[in-house]
Amino acid sequence: MQSILFVCLGNICRSPLAEGIAREIIKKENLAIVVDSAGTSGWHIDEPPCEGSRMVAKKHGFSIDDLRGRRLSVYADDSFDLIIALDSKNYRDILSLGFDKNKVRKLGDYGLDGADVPDPYTYRDMEGFEAVYAMIERGVRHLLSKS
Ligand code: 4NP
Repeated sequence: MQSILFVCLGNICRSPLAEGIAREIIKKENLAIVVDSAGTSGWHIDEPPCEGSRMVAKKHGFSIDDLRGRRLSVYADDSFDLIIALDSKNYRDILSLGFDKNKVRKLGDYGLDGADVPDPYTYRDMEGFEAVYAMIERGVRHLLSKS
């Protein structure tokens, strides 16, 4: 069984959405992959995903309401096969925590021409979340097709 951990800054907008999108694909395609998410900061521990991410997930037919923010830790998370950073700063922060560089990648490396998934935390409209959703979905589909 392969395991993939998605990592952003707060673990309330981008990485829970990546986790939710991956769960849906894994369920539909019956893949032997487990996924989780975490944040490099401890700012939103135990909080549900941000409203925009919860709403955009619902619009696409699934819920991420039960996910809760947690902080990335090399002690808890070193057993994942792949650690997927949502942007370049997340990538650098993950490496500085001591994770093995061989298993850390950016989501942007999967069908997104290396692009960072922008932080949507301060967006007020749903358009921003839809754009972030589309990017994450494309990256996650690519990633899962190679896993
Ligand atoms: P995320 O978004 O990294 O996609 O979960 C953010 C959430 C919270 C903050 C920044 C980004 N914040 O500054 O609190």
